[in-house]
Amino acid sequence: MRETADPNALLSWYDRHARQMPWRVGPKARADGVRPDPYRVWLSEVMLQQTTVAAVKSYFLAFTERWPRVTDLAAAEDAEVMAAWAGLGYYARARNLLKCARAVAEEHGGVFPDTHAGLMALPGIGPYTASAVAAIAFDRPETVVDGNVERVMARLHDEHMPLPQSKKILTEHAEALTPTGRPGDYAQAVMDLGATICTPRNPACGLCPWRPACAAWAAGTQAELPKKAPK
Ligand code: ADE
Repeated sequence: MRETADPNALLSWYDRHARQMPWRVGPKARADGVRPDPYRVWLSEVMLQQTTVAAVKSYFLAFTERWPRVTDLAAAEDAEVMAAWAGLGYYARARNLLKCARAVAEEHGGVFPDTHAGLMALPGIGPYTASAVAAIAFDRPETVVDGNVERVMARLHDEHMPLPQSKKILTEHAEALTPTGRPGDYAQAVMDLGATICTPRNPACGLCPWRPACAAWAAGTQAELPKKAPK
């Protein structure tokens, strides 16, 4: 019988293989109880929407050097922020970024709300960003579902219904697996697994901590999944 996917197996893989990113806290500091800065988590998540990790890194470093706290960003001129954003694209994101920073500074004393609902009430924060910040910055048991997570779930459950119709089912699978312990690390672990092992093409199944639980591996269908409805 196939094993069920064990969140702890993924977390121990993450402890060894997490990608280093400037907004993440390394494993040593994490073990010492250091939490990521919500401002940095939020900024990275907004930048990562529609932009790759590799492209985001230098922008993230430039922003946080120039505006180390959310109150610094809130006090910036619109034109300065738009100029610093140039190249990341989707300029509505930069305008919303400033609106959100100013709301946190002016209405919350510069402190990010620490719940999904509190984050959703901020301008420019939708369900994805609220889940990501609540989980990663505040270790709330929220489930983060991006394209990487959808692919991992489609393969783990050998789901052949095409996207986007399968979105709801894949989200439910992802929710069912989210642990109450270390949900922030777990959210990033699934994204890292999708980005480095469970890749769209040529997945490295031999290195996957969830291979014993993977229905697509058992059926040999991993290369076909997730299916996409024809446009
Ligand atoms: N993509 C979006 N957010 C991410 C994160 N926190 N880690 C890895 N990939 C991501």
